[in-house]
Order: sequence, then structure tokens, then C-alpha cells
Amino acid sequence: MIIQRVPTGISKFDEMIEGGFPENSMILLVGYPGAGKTTFSAQFIYNGATRHRAKGVYVCFAETKETFLKNMMRFGWDFERLEKDGRVAILDLSVTRESGLQKNLDTIMETMTSLNASRLVIDSFSAISMGLKEPIDIRVMIHLLYRFLKKARCISILIIDQPWGSTSLDEGISEFLADGIIHFETYFDENEILRRRFRILKMRGTNHTKTPHEYDITSDGFIILDKKGYGKDFREKEYSARRGFTDLLDVKGVGVKRSNILKALGIRTAEDLAEADPKFLADNLKISRKAASKIIRNARKIASGR
Ligand SMILES: Nc1ncnc2c1ncn2[C@@H]1O[C@H](COP(=O)(O)OP(=O)(O)OP(=O)(O)O)[C@@H](O)[C@H]1O
Ligand SMILES: [Mg+2]
Repeated sequence: MIIQRVPTGISKFDEMIEGGFPENSMILLVGYPGAGKTTFSAQFIYNGATRHRAKGVYVCFAETKETFLKNMMRFGWDFERLEKDGRVAILDLSVTRESGLQKNLDTIMETMTSLNASRLVIDSFSAISMGLKEPIDIRVMIHLLYRFLKKARCISILIIDQPWGSTSLDEGISEFLADGIIHFETYFDENEILRRRFRILKMRGTNHTKTPHEYDITSDGFIILDKKGYGKDFREKEYSARRGFTDLLDVKGVGVKRSNILKALGIRTAEDLAEADPKFLADNLKISRKAASKIIRNARKIASGR
């Protein structure tokens, strides 16, 4: 049986997990403060909405929607616009945290259903469980959430905030239920420079990377830096990719005006454009589907070096 894959659209990351997350899976993203959990997860939703025709729901428990929107704009990701277009919903549950788990789950479920969303991020799971002090409550909550997520038939990323230096995930049970676990870590190198690396601890049904990989959060969001543990092919590909991004203006059919619109949508290079969704492109450039497909084809020719 073939497992369908759901790409994150994050370059190099998908290649490390056979093309994407296994369909209908629940992924735990565990990480230290400021490690980049929000950025990675938002990028997953953003790429889904802009490139993979996948609608997404982002649930803010830890920070407010306002802060989220503002921070994401720093990466050039206009979530407000995606929300207006009906591709994404951002739920601000930071204020109704106290109103009870079941009620919050209902709100999430309703939003997922009405949007027909296939991607979900809960930022963070730790923030929801904060109100629950008894371990039994947390266990009940995890099972509730798990059943809910399997019913929702989506890819979900649950963010787990991990205190610095801690090695456990606290809950103890969620690790076994989760289909995948990714760990984000920050540390200081010998020159006292802040560095970041991630590991994939688990990904069911997937031959995933087994080594740690260095990454960074830049003005373009989450990017993978390291080649450690990866074969020569990968290293060369990465090298040429980093040097060889092609300007949007080199794509036939894209002028300055369109190039600016595309950049505002997070499509910055011919390579990005090659992966764009024709309908999304048509809507935003206000051109026909056919014209949009043609531009994407032109971008693909350039991206593949033909
Ligand atoms: N626009 C930016 N350009 C470069 N680096 C940035 C930018 N925005 C954030 N960062 C870096 O990313 C870090 C925060 O990323 P993010 O909010 O995704 O982490 P997080 O793991 O969700 O943090 P928290 O534990 O606070 O929720 C910042 O501490 C900073 O180092
Ligand atoms: Mg965060």
C-alpha cells in the first residue's frame, strides 16, 4: 500500500521524509524557546495554501493572533490576505483558553469543517494543557485530541514547548500516540554563537533522516543549512540551489508589476513559481487559469535549467 505524502514545501525537509508527512498524521514539534517552532509550522500552513491547494487552520494559544500576523509579515507571509481569500483561518484562542478544552476543540473542528481544511497547527499544545494540572486530565485531553484529529482527517502539527535543557516531553503518552516527532534545539557553539539543529525522532511508515541537521531562521523563514549525514548528491544539489536561484523577471510572462505581486505572496524566485498553484496564481495576478499555467510552465523550464 502506498502512503500518500503531504509536502511541507520546505526545501530539503521534504526530501528527508520521503516527500512529506504521511497523510492523516499527527506530528509533535517539540522545541526550546525561540527555536523556530512557530515559524516552521506557519511555513507549513503558508506553503500549503499558496502552493499545494491545501487549506489550513492555525490555532494561536500561546501568542495572540495580532502578534502572530505581525511576526509572519516579517517573513513576507501575508496571512491576513490568505484568510480573506478563504485559504487559511487563524483562530485566536489565547483569550478563550479558560473556556474549557471541549469547547475549544469544538471551535477548531467547526473551523476545519467549514473551511474544508487539511492542515492544522496548534501553537501550542503546552499552552492548552497549562490549565490542567492533574496528569489524568492531561491524559484525557490527549486522547480527546487524538480522536478528534484522526476524525478531522488532516495533518496536524502540535507544538510542544520544552524548557531549555529538558530532555523529556512531559506528557509521556503523546509520544506514543504521535505519528511523528520532530525536535528543535538551540545551543551555543564554541564561539558562543547561537545555533539551531533538528532531529526527527520518529515518523511512522517513513524512511526518515537519522542524523541531526543544522537550520536557521532567516528573513525567508526556516531554512536547512547543514549537509551532515547526507550523501554527496544532496550536498551538490543544495550548493547549486543556494547559488542558483533565478530571478522572477527571467520568467517569460513576468514583468516588474507581476514580480512584485508574486514576491508579496512569498513567491520569490523562478523555482518558487515553478511550484505555484495555477488557481492561486490566476486569482492573484487576475489572469486566466490557462495564462497562469503557461507562466508556471515557463518557470519550470528555467528552474530545471532547460
Ligand atoms: N524576521 C526574522 N528574521 C530573522 N530571524 C528571526 C526573525 N523572526 C524571528 N527570528 C528568529 O526566530 C526566533 C523565534 O522564532 P519562533 O517564534 O518561530 O520560535 P518559537 O520556537 O515558536 O518560539 P517560542 O518558544 O517563543 O514560541 C527568534 O528568537 C529569532 O532568533
Ligand atoms: Mg512560538
